[in-house]
Amino acid sequence: MCSIIGYKGKNAAAPILVDSLKRMEYRGYDSVGVATFDSGSILVRKGTGKVLEVNRNLNIDQMAGKIGIGHTRWATHGGVTDKNAHPHSACKNDIAVVHNGIIENYQELKEELIGAGHTFASETDSEVIAHLLEIHYSSGVKEAMIETCKRLRGNFAIVAVFQDGTICGARYEEPLVIGVANDGYFVSSDVLGFLEYTDKAIFLENGDICIVDNSKLEIFDFEGRPIAHPITQVAWELGDIDKGKYAHYTLKEINEQRLTVVHAGRQDQAMMNKFCDILASAKDIYITGSGTSYHSTLIFKHMLARFGKIRAETVVSSESQYALTSMDRNSVLVAISQSGETADVLDSVRLARNQGSKILSIVNVTTSSLARISDACLSTNCGPEIGVAATKSFTGQLALIYNITDRLCEKCLETERADLAVAVENVVANQGSVIKVAEQMKDASDIYLLGRSLHYPIALEGALKLKELAYVHAEGIAAGELKHGPLALMEKNTFVIMINPHDATFNDTISNAHEIKARGATVVGISDRNDDVYDYWIEIPHLKEEAYYPVVEVIPLQILAYQLALAKNADPDYPRNLAKSVTVR
Ligand code: M6R
Repeated sequence: MCSIIGYKGKNAAAPILVDSLKRMEYRGYDSVGVATFDSGSILVRKGTGKVLEVNRNLNIDQMAGKIGIGHTRWATHGGVTDKNAHPHSACKNDIAVVHNGIIENYQELKEELIGAGHTFASETDSEVIAHLLEIHYSSGVKEAMIETCKRLRGNFAIVAVFQDGTICGARYEEPLVIGVANDGYFVSSDVLGFLEYTDKAIFLENGDICIVDNSKLEIFDFEGRPIAHPITQVAWELGDIDKGKYAHYTLKEINEQRLTVVHAGRQDQAMMNKFCDILASAKDIYITGSGTSYHSTLIFKHMLARFGKIRAETVVSSESQYALTSMDRNSVLVAISQSGETADVLDSVRLARNQGSKILSIVNVTTSSLARISDACLSTNCGPEIGVAATKSFTGQLALIYNITDRLCEKCLETERADLAVAVENVVANQGSVIKVAEQMKDASDIYLLGRSLHYPIALEGALKLKELAYVHAEGIAAGELKHGPLALMEKNTFVIMINPHDATFNDTISNAHEIKARGATVVGISDRNDDVYDYWIEIPHLKEEAYYPVVEVIPLQILAYQLALAKNADPDYPRNLAKSVTVR
């Protein structure tokens, strides 16, 4: 939820830290701060706002020193204030710390520390870490890190700078990765924090502590035992994380979706076989995910039932503790996640694992925690997704789900993937018609999206995009449920989007459109076939393989949400109150 970065090397730290924070801002973006070490003291500058704005006000990138730490915050404990921004310092100003996660026992620790004479400057849970480190610092940095980590309950990734110029990191249930450059080290929540400087990474595991001291690196566990992890070459390239000609990452990522559906087809066949064999031999299949990835689980369930007569249950990850209660060694949990770091998803996996079940995963970040704890993991291969709203990762997940279904159900899908790529290209090129509809809808306060069968998850996904990007009340509804309640809401000034390609669901959904129109609402059709009932028609290409329609239906909805965000002067890349990777419960 927050991004953390540390640097110790031969170059000025502050400009590097500001640049890294800018690249990771999508992880959290209500406040920013940096601490550097120079000439024996630690300097801190921090404030509320986005990276460039805070940097402009405080000249963070001018701070002296070749050693430093930085943070962008997504508030959990304590309001969005300058004082609550990280880094947090201890009483003697000999330590500064940045933290991602939640310290569950912070109240108890805080009382203890206040009792021992410490004074707190913020309302955050994170500040206790700085004071605990300070207590143990007299025994050395290593001891301070070990003793502090042992006292913390909850989840944390920490980076700290000490008055002797040492940088340390620790990880428990939050990601932390070391970047190994020719002239220094990075400690970051994300490879994007240092990809511009190095593509060599060491992924820390839960319970690891690292110390970068005089340009050497030491890794050990919470008991102080040394640990060796390999250096991994990161597959992503710098070009993947630039906006290029686009005004926003979200727009770039929407436009990249032609390639997404192709790249998702490029799978390691041995891994694909392993994944499908585990799936095929399962007694019970559960599929889980959060947000957009949960909508993919619904499509996966549908595909398995329709083409393989395979029964699977979907569970929204945050509900898994109530739903995943009767798994065993013959069960399989398929976890779908772009980031592979979503706390709710990882909780579901732990729950399933504790019952002996196998874990399969579909991720975009192949170095993520989820990828590493799965029995088999497939990658959506769509490159870094920076926009907070999931776009290309969703169509990547769908494309991969089609692959898996086709492999499991013996070439059940009719047409070549290339046809889908062309169809996606056409939809992406047809943004003009969506922009016209967006102009009509810019003042709408309620938007309903209706679809049946495979199109219902797209109604849900479209509503999620409209909520998070355009801050408009939007609801996805199974079209057949209209008469069971939602029809009461249909009146003048209500907009209803019918997701209605010309397949077996078409006529029933057209009937719903008439019922809605008769109540005075405005009807928008997303379809390959026009109909008189539509006030506005967003045309999508006709597809021979009906199962592929969700991919071409969702893109106009992504574009619509993007356009409505622009009309409201909202920043589509960084929707208010949200973060890309939800690593807290
Ligand atoms: O990284 P994940 O796929 O696990 O993330 C799950 C959700 O947090 C994510 O899809 C979220 O709902 C997006 N902002 C939706 O656009």
